[in-house]
Amino acid sequence: GTVVALVPAAGRGVRLGEATPKAFVPVGGSPMVRLAVEGLIASGAVDRIIVMVPAEFVESAVALLPPSDSVHVVVGGAERIDSVRAGLAAAPEAAYYLVHDAARALTPPALIARVAAELRAGHLAVVPALPVADTIKSVDAAGAVTGTPDRAQLRAIQTPQGFAAGLLRSAYLADGVQATDDAGLVELLGAQVHTIPGDPMAFKITTPLDLLLAHAVLDGADL
Ligand code: C5P
Repeated sequence: GTVVALVPAAGRGVRLGEATPKAFVPVGGSPMVRLAVEGLIASGAVDRIIVMVPAEFVESAVALLPPSDSVHVVVGGAERIDSVRAGLAAAPEAAYYLVHDAARALTPPALIARVAAELRAGHLAVVPALPVADTIKSVDAAGAVTGTPDRAQLRAIQTPQGFAAGLLRSAYLADGVQATDDAGLVELLGAQVHTIPGDPMAFKITTPLDLLLAHAVLDGADL
């Protein structure tokens, strides 16, 4: 079955404090979206890659991505969910989708290949997961703590998130649905989501501190 990677890169990146959309911010000379796409190619597990970018960045995205018949750029949407919908529409032939944030630019190709392998092994939804180091609490609007879920049962979820194509399409068909990741939408359908061990290098580059860390990694800092 055909594996299509959808790369949402249409965010504005305000948290990073740069004028450029986050996915186009260079890390060690290469824009994050390019690093993410190179990682997907290097995994050897992906047949086609759809990159969703802001409308005014289509041309520059085409210019900076590796020239390949299997890499396509489309216009994303106002919210991440809209960007993924645009990617789904551009790749109706998929048997499996991998949804992979451009901001996880340093994701090891081996992790991408593992997600794809779990899909081929029959899991309908697969996400990389790491134990959390912090204690996580819920709080109300006033900042008062309302609960402390048992940390041992919590995981930080990364991308790529892999799905049987029909399942992800169904999840996105529903109107007005909201979730902070793609697996969240699939969970709303009652489907089982399978976790595999994530990788610290698949961290999302969100803050200036993350960007500093990414530079250090690319410079070959001893961690
Ligand atoms: O903002 P956040 O870090 O959660 O964004 C995750 C990914 O979703 C980023 O790669 C970002 O470019 C992408 N995104 C998108 N379209 C949007 C908002 C975010 O493709 N409208």
